[in-house]
Amino acid sequence: MSTAFMEVSAGTLVAQRANLAPIFEGLGIAYHFDDDTPLQEVCLKKGLDPQMVAESLRSVDDTAPYADDTIEAHPLQRQGSFVDMVEHLIFWHHNYLRYQLPRLSGEIGKVARAYGKTHPELWRVDAEFDDVRAGIERHMDKEDLVLFPLCRRLDSDVAPREAQSGAVDCVVRVLEHEHQRIDHALETIRDLTHGYTPPADAKPDHVAVLKALAKLEADLHRHEQEEDDILFAKVLSREHIIEDQDLTNDLAP
Ligand SMILES: [Fe+2]
Ligand SMILES: [Fe+2]
Repeated sequence: MSTAFMEVSAGTLVAQRANLAPIFEGLGIAYHFDDDTPLQEVCLKKGLDPQMVAESLRSVDDTAPYADDTIEAHPLQRQGSFVDMVEHLIFWHHNYLRYQLPRLSGEIGKVARAYGKTHPELWRVDAEFDDVRAGIERHMDKEDLVLFPLCRRLDSDVAPREAQSGAVDCVVRVLEHEHQRIDHALETIRDLTHGYTPPADAKPDHVAVLKALAKLEADLHRHEQEEDDILFAKVLSREHIIEDQDLTNDLAP
């Protein structure tokens, strides 16, 4: 594992696992996607012990939210409480996006400026990604500030007033619609990049950006699926139970 770390550049490692970035920041190692200097070489130049650096990288928790293959292994549990579900979504998906969106936005801009002349589609990818990023961030703000606090209160026996008035239903419908709009915008980026396929002459930073975009889209699909099929469905069924209870109470003699 330590050899594998040393053979690739810091930028490539961060493109694959964004949770390694703080380690490089702590060690004063730059991790630009366009620098393909092997980490071993960088360590030796900076007078750092490669073994020690590899140990630090290995110590990063592989089950942390930004790790590569772990999201698949940690699905949202259908039978969990509302609090558990909200924590899962924040930990595994929102944290990853809040961390990765601004970084990737900067890297796409750099790649567009470097290769936009020969690959003009990169300018459109850059502009589209800025829109997608803004849309996703606004969407997550609504979930973090409106829906999730309400969900946490749905665990209790006493239903929040919003659930009794049908307001939760409204919020969920808006969020579902936003998922579709985000998917559509990502589809445009996927089409522009021919399914994130690097052109034959693509440099390592260009390849790394495409790889990071593909990972972001895969994570988003998983994220939206967990919300639409599990959390939102549970919220709506809980709200209908509350409405039925209200109706029963109203009809009671
Ligand atoms: Fe979300
Ligand atoms: Fe969402």
